[in-house]
Amino acid sequence: MSQKETVIVLDFGGQYNQLIARRVRDCNVYCEILPYTTKIEKIKEIAPKGIIFTGGPNSVYDESSPHYSAEIFDLGIPILGICYGCQLMAYLLGGKVISAADDAVSEYGKTLTRYSGDNALFHALPEKGVSWMSHRDYISEVPAGFKITAVTDNCPVAAMADESKGFFGVQFHPEVNHTENGKEMIRAFLYNVCKCAGDWRMESFIETTVAQIKEQVGDKGVVLGLSGGVDSSVAAALISKAIGKQLTCVFVDQGLMRKNEGDFVESTFTKLFDMNFVRINCGDEFLAKLKGLTDPEEKRNVIGTEFYNVFWNKIRESYGSGFFAQGTIYPDRIESGKGDAAKIKTHHNQVEQPKDIHFEGTIEPLKDLFKDEVRAVGEKLGLPHELVWRQPFPGPGLGVRVIGEVTAERVKILQEADAILRDEMDKCGYSKEMSQFFAVLPGVKTVGVMGDARTYSELIAIRAVTTDDFMTADWAKIPYEILGRVSNRIINEVSHVNRVVYDITSKPPGTVEWE
Ligand code: XMP
Repeated sequence: MSQKETVIVLDFGGQYNQLIARRVRDCNVYCEILPYTTKIEKIKEIAPKGIIFTGGPNSVYDESSPHYSAEIFDLGIPILGICYGCQLMAYLLGGKVISAADDAVSEYGKTLTRYSGDNALFHALPEKGVSWMSHRDYISEVPAGFKITAVTDNCPVAAMADESKGFFGVQFHPEVNHTENGKEMIRAFLYNVCKCAGDWRMESFIETTVAQIKEQVGDKGVVLGLSGGVDSSVAAALISKAIGKQLTCVFVDQGLMRKNEGDFVESTFTKLFDMNFVRINCGDEFLAKLKGLTDPEEKRNVIGTEFYNVFWNKIRESYGSGFFAQGTIYPDRIESGKGDAAKIKTHHNQVEQPKDIHFEGTIEPLKDLFKDEVRAVGEKLGLPHELVWRQPFPGPGLGVRVIGEVTAERVKILQEADAILRDEMDKCGYSKEMSQFFAVLPGVKTVGVMGDARTYSELIAIRAVTTDDFMTADWAKIPYEILGRVSNRIINEVSHVNRVVYDITSKPPGTVEWE
């Protein structure tokens, strides 16, 4: 097979590294993030069209700071250094980097930057613009052969270039939105300097992957654990396109999904796709195991263990040969700056297999894709919009949203309230504005009055957040009219509920889920 056009993002531990890779792929160029410990032989083997050195929190003079062999500059491959990557380039090629321990020239945030247009990176751009800076050290002298291509009031070398070799360095972060024309700079590096063809498209990804799956699987069977989440659903659709009924999807419905969700997943995959679909309804068994439990961690453990047992017992019984497939995606596999390619983050998408089950191999068709690329593939494969754009849903399901003991009656109350919330948010088009929203049953009873009678019933809490990464989140400012409609409907339509409250806690200090 011909080598696919690749750009390497060499990871020195910066916080925006995935963003750099996203920007490159947005320009239709395939790109991979590799740790700075990657051997030069591997880079030669990949033969990338270009290399991007990322930022990083260190100073090039720290003993423990990540470096790379200067041999990389002899490969004849264009290199763009960003922030720390720019300083490292200057340092390794004989320029001078000043360690600004006294903060004298450190720059942070939006900074007015003046560019010279006489180089391939800034050629088509305005002479001035805001760039996003985040550095303490700075370059005071560029290496031989380089010229200064941008400055700020505080930074004598905001960008530098040796065009004859295709080496460019920028002290700021072109990958973040705050840098005006940052995307154009990255595009200019890829197309004007690296001469990329830009053939990374989701259509060709689907075509190539389908062919690879067919070749790898032959006439064997493939089994996939389907959760109904975006990643496993798209993986299922893709594998089904490749091998049809040789694929079996096992869907464990533990009774803790949102209202009608299990049926929706079943009808989607049985009606729209060619595959064997096996649904295991085990809600009663899960409830029996959860009886009397109120501690959040204990509940999580029980749900996790039970899920593991039900799923693998089914596989053991019927499908323990051929190939195992899972919906691992690219961010599941990369760990920023650790520099140890073999170490993979434990993640819910990557399922631990029991030792007694031996598949011939694992198929992870989405392992090189970012989430929005996975969604684009899902849309192209004809998965319903609702599934492709699904919000994250925790593995333990409503088990962590029914606070305290989980009973069939309490799950039902929560499902009804949550369905009303989703319906109202969808109707006014507000769902799209949210990263995640849901109802919680806190297990608190309060006094109310309905008709002329006193009530003493359950409370429903509404949780809604906006976030980019779920590491931090803001509580969403849902308009009062919508909250009012949701509250009225929940109290009128869901029995045993007489009060609704809105959670106005950000993360931190709160978490998104209540348990
Ligand atoms: P927290 O509550 O930690 O949630 O702020 C952050 C995001 O992770 C989701 N979440 C989970 N996802 N298994 C999952 O697959 C889990 O056990 C789990 N717990 C929380 C949560 O819904 C939010 O999107």
